[in-house]
Amino acid sequence: MLINISFYVYFSICVKTFHRNKKNNIHIYNMTNLNKHYNPKNLSDRVALIFTKFLRFLADAFFRKKYGHRAVVLETVAAVPGMVAGMLLHLKSLRKMEDDKGWIKILLDEAANERMHLMTFIEVAKPTFLERLIIMIAQFIFIIMYMFIFIISQRTAHRIVGYFEEEAVISYSEYLKELEKGIIPDQPAPEIAINYWNLPLHSTLKDVVKVIRDDEAGHRDVNHSFASILDERKLKKEVKKNKNYKILNQKKT
Ligand SMILES: [Fe+2]
Ligand SMILES: [Fe+2]
Repeated sequence: MLINISFYVYFSICVKTFHRNKKNNIHIYNMTNLNKHYNPKNLSDRVALIFTKFLRFLADAFFRKKYGHRAVVLETVAAVPGMVAGMLLHLKSLRKMEDDKGWIKILLDEAANERMHLMTFIEVAKPTFLERLIIMIAQFIFIIMYMFIFIISQRTAHRIVGYFEEEAVISYSEYLKELEKGIIPDQPAPEIAINYWNLPLHSTLKDVVKVIRDDEAGHRDVNHSFASILDERKLKKEVKKNKNYKILNQKKT
């Protein structure tokens, strides 16, 4: 019980700090470790990780080192889960007449933030005809698939996004490394990015990649936390059920 309460307190502080920083345009998600990885603890986590690694393999095979193009295509997919999850939780809140504890807003904000990543990268890399085709097919498949996953297991759905975001952080770190080494030429930051993240006027693509990577790390932590909260709730329910079962058995004997 105490662990559960402290987890909730810690999580709400994290979310509040994240949103306060965004509001004040202090775009630093207090990350101590960008390479954080959530070790799978149950079958649901393992399924989420395998699914993510499979998609990562496909993305690596298709885009290789074309980071700009990779970002454009993947951000179109990344902006889907928050919107789907937010919509489904909104409908659930209406059906059950229950408060959502602020989850819907966080998820919708995530989707809007991912869309801004796309709006930024579209200024950096123009998608080819094949990529536009992939975007359309991927969106159609991914919306349906993610909706089903979310309906069947909400915690698996959040864990998948948590792992997706881990991979996004890795990809943007690789992109940044290539920019810093000069392998990919740096360029002035797009105006849309300067306005959205309130960056200095002389900012470059490197600065943009850094703030986007911070965003991805924020999404990673929020979604892993959501999945862990749901895990805790499930565990609590099972313990309660077992306790009731034992009490019932004791009364019978
Ligand atoms: Fe993103
Ligand atoms: Fe993200």
